[in-house]
Amino acid sequence: MSCKAEPLRTLGTCYYPEHWPQEQWAIDAKLMVETGLAWVRIGEFAWSRLELNPGELNWGWMDRAVEILGAAGLKIIMGTPTATPPRWMLDKYPDMLAFDDEGRPRKFGSRRHYCFSHLGYRQECARITRLLGERYGSNPFVGAWQTDNEYGCHDTTLSYSNSALLGFRAWLREKYLTPEALNLAWGNVFWSMEYNSFEQIDFPHLTVTEANPSHIMDFKRFSSDMVVEFNRVQTEVLRGLTDAPLLHNYMGRTIEFDHFKVGQDLDIATWDSYPLGFLEDRSNQSDAYKEKFMSQGDPDFQAFHHDLYRSVGKGRWWVMEQQPGPVNWAPFNPAPLPGMVRLWTWEAFAHGAETVSYFRWRQVPFAQEQMHAGLLRPDSEPAPGLAEAAKVALEIKQMPEVDVKQASIAIVFGYQSAWAWETQPQGQNFDYFSLVFDFYRALRKLGLSIDIISPDCQDLSEYKVVLMPGLFHVPSSLAEVLNDFKGLAILGPRTGAKTLDMQIPKNMPPNIAGFDCIVDYVQSLRPGVDVTLAKGGSFIHWAEKISGSAPVRELTQAGDIAIMGTDKLWYLAGWPDEVALQRILSDAC
Ligand code: GAL
Repeated sequence: MSCKAEPLRTLGTCYYPEHWPQEQWAIDAKLMVETGLAWVRIGEFAWSRLELNPGELNWGWMDRAVEILGAAGLKIIMGTPTATPPRWMLDKYPDMLAFDDEGRPRKFGSRRHYCFSHLGYRQECARITRLLGERYGSNPFVGAWQTDNEYGCHDTTLSYSNSALLGFRAWLREKYLTPEALNLAWGNVFWSMEYNSFEQIDFPHLTVTEANPSHIMDFKRFSSDMVVEFNRVQTEVLRGLTDAPLLHNYMGRTIEFDHFKVGQDLDIATWDSYPLGFLEDRSNQSDAYKEKFMSQGDPDFQAFHHDLYRSVGKGRWWVMEQQPGPVNWAPFNPAPLPGMVRLWTWEAFAHGAETVSYFRWRQVPFAQEQMHAGLLRPDSEPAPGLAEAAKVALEIKQMPEVDVKQASIAIVFGYQSAWAWETQPQGQNFDYFSLVFDFYRALRKLGLSIDIISPDCQDLSEYKVVLMPGLFHVPSSLAEVLNDFKGLAILGPRTGAKTLDMQIPKNMPPNIAGFDCIVDYVQSLRPGVDVTLAKGGSFIHWAEKISGSAPVRELTQAGDIAIMGTDKLWYLAGWPDEVALQRILSDAC
């Protein structure tokens, strides 16, 4: 074991000095250090205390907090407070609120009450970020910066406000240049939906029946780009004021914006891991499954996101908020089994996390999250998570150095594919995240290490098998890389099913040059209706009729082609159930 100045793995916690009397800060800092924590994140919701009224800045308390925490030996992650604009901001910009898809304003009184497209609010964010950067950008105690907090949380990516509408029209004009080009790309001749000018274009909501899928896709792309732009406003300011790494804390199962694009402007991806909350709140597993794992969380869900965010962070990633006990926001909020907090922490390290930070230091006795556990109880006595964190801190010190091993399997995960199948599911149980997650789970059952990569990846040479289930469109760059790929690529169901404009490709799906396989038609299946495969297992939710001259690898019991392909490329004509996936992937791998 070699001696390193900087430990390879560190722990941290999320702390809100503004919630506690100042006399408490040094006591807290000392205990954090004694527990073995290295990092403390502060500031991300503190705007109303940093700027009491427009321009009336109140640095004193933050200066003291930084000094006390830093002097105790902690490194600070400074959050920009832009997820919680103070009430006075609304007086300045009454039109800065986001609007929901029914056209109602999303009002003040909780958090994230802003529209990503509002240019005035963006300027305010640049201003407060600059002020913070100027004050703490070269402070030796500040070791990292977090932009905002959980973009997209509480369904905030899509906004139907007036600023979003103006922004959307400008975005469309830039993309299409003329209404004629837009009409063609969207197929607006259908139902006489043609536009004569960009000013006529509205949001794809509140229409009599479903809106045009191409229109919806562009609105989702625009909304995602607004998150990217919003984040960039802050990174551009901070880059000039600090050398510390910039990061953002993403969430679990959040698909509304392209995380790979946001990640391009940051140095580290972090995410907020709440295994028990997610199982109750974000899993479409059965009640029996939820009961079985209620105190541990879904065994694959955290791992999936660790692998995803490793890629979003271009190799560098952390858990910024680790669940330390019961949360408050899921339909049911059980306590983790003893040892789970430690296990979750080690699981993250095993997937390559540099830091795991617990949310939050002390349970707060007031406001919305008073029922959310911390490492300490509200009376400052230790909660069960504290001892587990302390144990990991000791174990980290004793741990030998380990090598990072390159995964040999990759799954391509595309946010636009999630939007495409949300827009046009064709069967109510066709959910892109679930499809990809089923493949991921099956690969994990085979004991494999997996990378989750972007459709824009330029290099597959490290991998032996690359899977791209449900990738709605195979970008030409990926098609080129695939051409030279020496391993096995597994496509389908629904891979290559659309053009970027969300139309059926001229050559018919899957539309892969040199691969003679055509999807003749598709059908979605009700729950309980399966297509049995001759070799075992079934297709569920989705089955396609395929034909062509590519070799047939597997049939359905009825004699239709289930899998076609060469040694380099397979196409799956349906959504395999657990049994079929296990068999198919173990053959492939
Ligand atoms: C996260 C959020 C935190 C806190 C936490 C509670 O989503 O970033 O601010 O609300 O959830 O679990």
